[in-house]
Amino acid sequence: MRLEGKVALISGAASGVESELMGFGGAAARMFCREGAKVVLGDINTAGGERTAAQIRAAGGDAIFVKLDVTSEQDWIDAVAATVAAYGTLNVLVNNAGTGARYTVEETTADAWDGQIDVHAKGTFLGTRQAIPEMLKAGGGSIINISSIYGLVGSPTSTAYHAAKGAVRLFTKSAAIQYAGDNIRVNSIHPGYCHTPLTTRSYENERYLDWIQERIPIGRVGVADDIAYGIVFLASDESSFMTGSELVIDGGTTAQ
Ligand SMILES: NC(=O)c1ccc[n+]([C@@H]2O[C@H](COP(=O)([O-])OP(=O)(O)OC[C@H]3O[C@@H](n4cnc5c(N)ncnc54)[C@H](O)[C@@H]3O)[C@@H](O)[C@H]2O)c1
Repeated sequence: MRLEGKVALISGAASGVESELMGFGGAAARMFCREGAKVVLGDINTAGGERTAAQIRAAGGDAIFVKLDVTSEQDWIDAVAATVAAYGTLNVLVNNAGTGARYTVEETTADAWDGQIDVHAKGTFLGTRQAIPEMLKAGGGSIINISSIYGLVGSPTSTAYHAAKGAVRLFTKSAAIQYAGDNIRVNSIHPGYCHTPLTTRSYENERYLDWIQERIPIGRVGVADDIAYGIVFLASDESSFMTGSELVIDGGTTAQ
């Protein structure tokens, strides 16, 4: 029960249905509940989010789903209000929602650029902005921003994704410094290549999958639980001396 008594809001948490391919947010929501947290799952995928929350409840966990488009400030206001209405406080925010855009510089349209910056960078900022007042009332909290190894190093494509995940990395440090004295910790996680609903279509391309696997010293792509364990650690008091840090979980990809 490493998260007993904590209330968490997780964005992009719709893919957490047992026996289906899970995403980081869905896997983290399940793990959080097993560790004693009460969890609000936010996503634009209402059907998946409702199914995940219902399964968690059926297994004895305490979870609800709220519709949340992370690019909308009003949605964040409503999601934080729903969290406090249901569970009385907010202790943990996981900014996890995201989409991909594997384009070179010349292929990246202005709209594609804006879309990536909006969902990753602006979405993380808006969530943090709305969560902090509740965390101040609670006497502290933990904010976990899901960046990527693509927020640390470059690749042949994904231009706007790199820029957006890099922004998440440094926004994390800025917020961490500002709120360290208020007992609000802010850390980023940098997952490597993982098999989730977001990546499953591109991994069907054998040449791309081979290219990826050559870059992973541990010899396998990651799964959602590999990242969820890191999210639980940063949410728990076990990481109480960590803020502004980058937790890289990538099978060694960026170590070489
Ligand atoms: N899978 C990987 O290899 C990998 C690697 C590094 C980082 N990431 C990041 O991890 C995060 C989770 O991705 P995942 O791989 O677990 O896939 P996922 O498909 O489970 O997660 C993305 C979720 O975000 C939701 N979403 C998309 N746009 C949204 C919006 N505007 N508002 C609210 N929700 C929205 C989707 O509906 C989906 O449920 C993303 O930020 C992704 O960029 C993934």
